[in-house]
Amino acid sequence: MKISFADPKLPKSGTLVVGVLEGRKLAASAAVLDKESNGALVSAMTATRFSGKKEETLTVPAPRGLFFDRVVLLGLGKPAGLTPVQVQRLGGALVPALNAVGASSASVAVDKIPGTRLAPGDAAANLAYGAMLRSYRFDKYRTREKPEQKPTLTELTILTASAASARRAYGPLESIAAGVFFTRDLVSEPPNIIFPESLARETKSLEKLGVKVEIFDEKQMKKLGMGALIGVGQGSSRPPRLVVMDYRGNPRGKDKAPVAFIGKGVTFDTGGISLKPAQGMEEMKWDMAGAGVVIGLMKALAGRKAKVNAIGVVGLVENMPDGNAQRPSDIVHTMSGQTVEVLNTDAEGRLVLADALWYCQDRFKPQFMVNLATLTGAIVVALGHEYAGMFSNNDQLASRLAAAGKAVEEPLWRMPMGEAYDRQIDSDAADVKNIGNGRDAGSITAAQFLQRFVNDVPWAHLDIAGTAWSKKDAPLVPKGATAFGVRLLDQLVESHYEGR
Ligand code: BES
Ligand code: MN
Ligand code: ZN
Repeated sequence: MKISFADPKLPKSGTLVVGVLEGRKLAASAAVLDKESNGALVSAMTATRFSGKKEETLTVPAPRGLFFDRVVLLGLGKPAGLTPVQVQRLGGALVPALNAVGASSASVAVDKIPGTRLAPGDAAANLAYGAMLRSYRFDKYRTREKPEQKPTLTELTILTASAASARRAYGPLESIAAGVFFTRDLVSEPPNIIFPESLARETKSLEKLGVKVEIFDEKQMKKLGMGALIGVGQGSSRPPRLVVMDYRGNPRGKDKAPVAFIGKGVTFDTGGISLKPAQGMEEMKWDMAGAGVVIGLMKALAGRKAKVNAIGVVGLVENMPDGNAQRPSDIVHTMSGQTVEVLNTDAEGRLVLADALWYCQDRFKPQFMVNLATLTGAIVVALGHEYAGMFSNNDQLASRLAAAGKAVEEPLWRMPMGEAYDRQIDSDAADVKNIGNGRDAGSITAAQFLQRFVNDVPWAHLDIAGTAWSKKDAPLVPKGATAFGVRLLDQLVESHYEGR
């Protein structure tokens, strides 16, 4: 979608969006049009249940006395404490409303609303950003769609008295949206298109933004001793890869140690020899969402030239059963030196992350590590699709993450960890086993497993199994791949780790 910002001269034709406060109170531009049309907007409101609640919309087709195709009323709710993300949601709400009436372009009058703390330029930029995020659609394989099934909206012009500052504020937001879209694309692609080698190849596109990209093949990983990661991939004809993305946006900062993000990239998870049931197995194409988020995040940070040094590490494998696949009871050697008894080949994500996490802290000595993974079905049982589970060995990092998640509406719920859970993954045959006892506390025992590979580094694990994919539309996230984590971690970096 093409976004532009212009001075607040109301157009006379086409599609115009104007704001209405809760209680049917017209904002300035709406009041002007209502007057010019002899009350057409107010009569339209009174003929419906539209009351100006936030994110409500009402389309008034061809209002009498005006030359517009339609005027869309956008409910602003009570604008008093309007936050950036709430303004983004307003922009998001516009997209389906404009598509529903077949508008290909629209102008949005962003008036100054008394009582809002947001600067007008920021409000305009966030409205545009929200619309952008919602406009995403993965339709490249839908070759026989009829025109009337396709979305129409391609162009949005934001009218504001602060066009220049809005443009400035929108720059970085546009880069974050590009990162989000990259993640959504990678996660949406089917597993015959995105597999370890091809996903690794995709990361190369970050080089033009100044990110150094290194791709390790199986031989190099063997040399590093990554027996756990390699073991997961050994039943697949597609060889594994490890990708290291290195972005140095703050080379002279006094705190040069990078921050680090690590992602689980299982490009398809059949479960391996501990095979999953057929029902729902197709969902395991998005078992690389953690890696997808890390890749999109690196794109966002580099794209907006964030003043931070950031490392992204993704472990890419396909978990398949074949004559060479690992067996339940195999024992593998991890890079850390610890041995793992693999009792269930479907608990593979933690094996991939064990080597990726160890490698990352060993090589980069980061300030912190945050890993993302669609790690356990148990986190979906616990938290559903609203919150992602957070596990951490560091209270400061955990509270910063929680605050960032709240701000961008990618919320995290911190889960407990501890010695008693850790005992569950002691193995009789090796140093650690890859599952706990039965299903008890399945997400926590998975986190305990990861913690054995982070050394003393401040660390958090985000279990995004319930939030990486959505079956319903939300204001900023159309159904499908959500890219949950990109906006959150960008916000974390922006709030605490830039330019020092
Ligand atoms: N990728 C799955 C977890 C998952 C489940 C993600 C549902 C998204 C939706 C993971 O590799 C897995 O299979 N976990 C097992 C662990 C168990 C064998 C200890 C699980 O959750 O059942
Ligand atoms: Mn699995
Ligand atoms: Zn998995």
